[in-house]
Amino acid sequence: MKTILCIGAGYVGGPTMAMIASKCPEYRIIVVDIDAERIRAWQSDRLPIYEPGLLELVKASLNKNLFFSTDIAKGIEEADIIFVSVNTPTKTFGEGAGRAADLQYWEKTARQIKACAKSDKIVVEKSTLPVRTAEAMERILKSGNPTVHFEVLSNPEFLAEGTAVKDLEKADRVLIGGHDTETGRKAVQDMVAIYAHWIPRERILTASVWSSELSKLAANAFLAQRISSINSLSALCESTEADVTEVARAIGMDARIGPKFLNASVGFGGSCFKKDILNLVYLCQHYGLSEVARYWEQVVEMNQYQEDRFVRTMIASMFNTVAGKRIAVLGFAFKADTGDTRESPANRVCRSLIEERAAVVVTDPRALKNARKDMADLADKIVYEEDPYLAAEGAHALAILTDWEEYKKLDYGRLYESMSKPAFIFDGRNCLDHAKLFEIGFNVYPIGKKPLSHL
Ligand code: NAD
Ligand code: UGA
Repeated sequence: MKTILCIGAGYVGGPTMAMIASKCPEYRIIVVDIDAERIRAWQSDRLPIYEPGLLELVKASLNKNLFFSTDIAKGIEEADIIFVSVNTPTKTFGEGAGRAADLQYWEKTARQIKACAKSDKIVVEKSTLPVRTAEAMERILKSGNPTVHFEVLSNPEFLAEGTAVKDLEKADRVLIGGHDTETGRKAVQDMVAIYAHWIPRERILTASVWSSELSKLAANAFLAQRISSINSLSALCESTEADVTEVARAIGMDARIGPKFLNASVGFGGSCFKKDILNLVYLCQHYGLSEVARYWEQVVEMNQYQEDRFVRTMIASMFNTVAGKRIAVLGFAFKADTGDTRESPANRVCRSLIEERAAVVVTDPRALKNARKDMADLADKIVYEEDPYLAAEGAHALAILTDWEEYKKLDYGRLYESMSKPAFIFDGRNCLDHAKLFEIGFNVYPIGKKPLSHL
C-alpha cells in the first residue's frame, strides 16, 4: 500500500486529501499540520472549515485510509508521495513586502522533508507559488541528503471555496507539471494514476513544472480580471443608466467570452486573488517587465476602487453623513457558503464606515467568529448579531456584502418595519429583488444599475 502525506491541513490540504482518500482506497493518506487544534478538529464532527458536503466526505474515509496527525517527521518517513499545501501569504516585511509571496512556511517544509526522508520521494507543490519555486525546492532538498532522490512536481489546486467538494469531484482539469527526465516522467505518471481514479483522462493535463506553476497564477489573474472588468463597467453603468446585468448577459452570450465571472459586485475577496496577482506583479517586476506588471496591478487597484466606491455611494445617498447611524452589514464572508473572511470586501467597507463614525452591526450565518478576529482592533466599535432581524432593528441602512442564499429569503417587509426611515438598502451583490424592495418602501442602491429612490 502506497502512502501519501499532505503537509498543511487547511482549505486545500484537508478537502483534497479527503477526496483522494475516498476515490483511491488502496492508498493510505496522512494529513499533518503544526496546528494541533486544527488536526483535532479534522478528527471531530466540527471540521476546522465549512464546506458543503465535506463532513460526509471526511467521515467516509476517516481512520480507514485517511488519517490526521501532528507527527510530521513520521509522516515524511513513511510517505512515498508528499503534497505540500502550506500557506503562501503575501510578504508583510522586507524586500517585496506587500507583493511577493512569503515562502518561509514553504521553505521550512522543504528543510524538514530533507531532514526526515530516508527513502526516495515525490514532492508535489500543491500550494500556489511563484514560477520557478520548484528550482529552489530542489536545491534545498538536494543539499546534504545525497542518498535520497527527490522528484519535485507541480500540481496546483483550482478549487473554489464554498464549492470545494464539487470542484474536486468534477474538476475542469487537473494539471501536473514535471521535468522532462526519466524520473520526472515516471513521477508524473504516478500522479496521473492517482487522479485517473475519478477524473477523465482527457482532463488530466501534463506540462513542464514552470508552465504548471505559472498557469495557476495566470488562471487566478484571468478570473479576477473579469470581475474587475465588469466592475469597472458597473461604474459607467451607474453614470449612464445602462444596466450592468444586461450588459453582462449581452457580452457573456458571445461564446468567445462566456457568461461566468461577470457578476458585478462590491469587489472580489478571498485569500488568493489579490495575493496571487500581486505575486505575479512582483515576478514581472523582478524580470524587468514593468509594463506587464502595471497591466496586472490595475486588476487589484480596480477592486479597491470598487470597494471604496460602494462606501462613497452609501454616504452620498444617505445625505452625505453616516455619523451616528446604525448600519447593518449582512454578510462578512468573502462569498457565500464559506466561513472564510480573508480579504473580504466587508473588512474594508466596515472600516471605512467606522471611520465615518457609523454604528456598524455585522451579521453572518457562518463567519462571525472570523469577523471578530479580523476586526479585533475595532472590537468596541462593532456589534455582532447572529440574527439578521435583530441586526436590522433601528438601522438606517442594510448593506448586503455576501450573497448568502438566506438573505434572498428574508422577510424584507418585516425588516423595513423595524428600521429607521428613510430606509436604505445597498445590494453589493445584486442578489435581491430590487423592484420588490422598492415597493416595500426601501431606497434601493444596486451595483451598476439605476438606484430606485423614493426621495
Ligand atoms: P491554510 O492557511 O488554510 O492552510 C495552510 C496550513 O498549513 C495551516 O493549517 C498551517 O498551520 C499549515 N502549515 C504552515 N506551515 C507548516 C509547516 N511547516 N508544517 C506543517 N504545516 C504547516 O491555507 P489554504 O487556503 O489551504 O492554502 C494553501 C495553499 O493553497 C496556498 O498556497 C493557497 O494559495 C493555495 N490555494 C488555496 C485555495 C483556497 O481556496 N483556499 C485554492 C487553491 C489554492
Ligand atoms: C478562486 C478561484 O475561483 C479558484 O479557481 C482558485 O483555486 C482559488 O481562487 C484559489 O486559488 O484560492 P475562491 O477565491 O475560493 O476561488 O472563490 P471565487 O468563487 O473565485 O470568488 C472569489 C471572489 O470573487 C468572491 O469574493 C466572489 O464573491 C467574487 N466574485 C466572483 C464576483 O464578485 N463576481 C463574480 O462574477 C465571481
